[in-house]
Amino acid sequence: MEHQLNRKDFLKFTCNAACGMGLAVAMINLEGCSPFPVIKTKHEKGEIKIPLLSLKAQKDILVRDLDLDYDIMLKIKDGKYIILVLKCTHQDWLLSPNSKGFNCSLHGSSFDTDGKVVNGPAALPLKQLNYTIDEENLVITL
Ligand code: FES
Repeated sequence: MEHQLNRKDFLKFTCNAACGMGLAVAMINLEGCSPFPVIKTKHEKGEIKIPLLSLKAQKDILVRDLDLDYDIMLKIKDGKYIILVLKCTHQDWLLSPNSKGFNCSLHGSSFDTDGKVVNGPAALPLKQLNYTIDEENLVITL
């Protein structure tokens, strides 16, 4: 029987396999073809918590929650965080990050690194998520 993994299953499988082999740290740096470091998370009660210590040396980070069907881009700009949902605002297709921004392969929209539309048919900028900061974590509200 043929079985195809969807993205979420694939990520769970590869993460679990890597953790089982003690390679979790390596997976963070070798994740996919992303030009950005990737942090894997698992949200709880509508929140993603990212330890502030892990953000100190980074500028832009791709947040990959194993229970979401999309990635989140976490940017640090002028001392503030900008958190972008990497779903196309045209028809919710998943976006691919690159050094100039984000591209949608379905109908060709592209967005700059701040989430503003560069090429349509998308007309709206990428959705931004709110956050708070507690003693130890950046807390993203989904
Ligand atoms: S869904 Fe992205 S351009 Fe249409």
